[in-house]
Amino acid sequence: MERCVHVPLEGRAYDVVIGPGLLAQAGERIMPLLRRPKVAVLTDETVAALHLEELRAGLAYAGIEMEALALPPGESTKAWPQFTRAVEWLLEMRVERNDVVVAFGGGVIGDLAGFAASVLRRGVRFVQIPTSLLAQVDSSVGGKTGINAPQGKNLIGAFHQPSLVLADTEVLGTLTPRDFLAGYGEVAKYGLLGDAEFFAWLEEKGPALAAGDMEARVEAVARSVQMKADIVVRDETEQGDRALLNLGHTFCHALEAATGYGDRLLHGEGVAIGCALAFELSSQLGLCSQEDPSRVRAHLKAMGMKCDLSDIEGELPSAEALLDLMGQDKKVVDGQLRFILARGIGEAFVTADVPKPIVLQILKEALDQR
Ligand code: GLY
Repeated sequence: MERCVHVPLEGRAYDVVIGPGLLAQAGERIMPLLRRPKVAVLTDETVAALHLEELRAGLAYAGIEMEALALPPGESTKAWPQFTRAVEWLLEMRVERNDVVVAFGGGVIGDLAGFAASVLRRGVRFVQIPTSLLAQVDSSVGGKTGINAPQGKNLIGAFHQPSLVLADTEVLGTLTPRDFLAGYGEVAKYGLLGDAEFFAWLEEKGPALAAGDMEARVEAVARSVQMKADIVVRDETEQGDRALLNLGHTFCHALEAATGYGDRLLHGEGVAIGCALAFELSSQLGLCSQEDPSRVRAHLKAMGMKCDLSDIEGELPSAEALLDLMGQDKKVVDGQLRFILARGIGEAFVTADVPKPIVLQILKEALDQR
């Protein structure tokens, strides 16, 4: 059942291995990268309680010793205080230039540990062992690492590719259904942005996949990672095509900012709502058919996911305020908002050519339905 996606970046190529039971094999998989049989693991307290001993045993099986630091779970960890703590701990553990740091957790840990590895002794290698669906299909692959600033998310960071990614799909079994579905928002995004056939496959297999069908999970993660790898190899530092991966994210970032980056709206939930809004916008601009946004929302609904602004609990700011929050997006270039729009399902493209009054109109209509 195991799959392997190769990311052929020149001089920094690596494999993303996907399948059940990889924690138990972590030692033999990582051993070829090591100069000495020792690794430093950064994780969070939730993942540590559930899976750290299994990882320790998997490493020990190949004779690898491990030291671990468990940070508090949650997005607020992804900031200077815990970052400083992590880097200083790695130095205390005497991690050397030729050693390997292991990022064992979801997107927060992967981003923070990858950034720590990128600056430690001017750069040490790291291995991603992503434990959330979101991290397996998106954040662990492609080398974007970093932390948040008071001014916005992911504003401090570096491109630093991992040397190996081990996506153990069995670990997904301990996610809450809400966290799993939030990650699924990113899976659906891949179909919507570049592969209509994959989206149709998800419409058919999505419910089984959410219910635990391991073969479907492996297939969905592998196809998502393959799409991401293809895009990253074309455009590692996001000069063009890589922005496609941000389908739904311009709306999402505004909604996350409006809801305080917390439990009210998880990132993947915002991506799903954002994808539905991006298709609505594309349809109103006459780029895709009116059926496309309905089909996107129908699938998200069938999966039990949030797909409308009315699915977000509590107050939301006005359409004007949301549009203003979009202006803070990293994708703003020369003051112009860039959107990922679509000519149909699986046919996304990047454009700055979107009249603000239409975006405002879409937001007003979406808010009116609340
Ligand atoms: N998550 C978007 C990217 O890696 O480019």
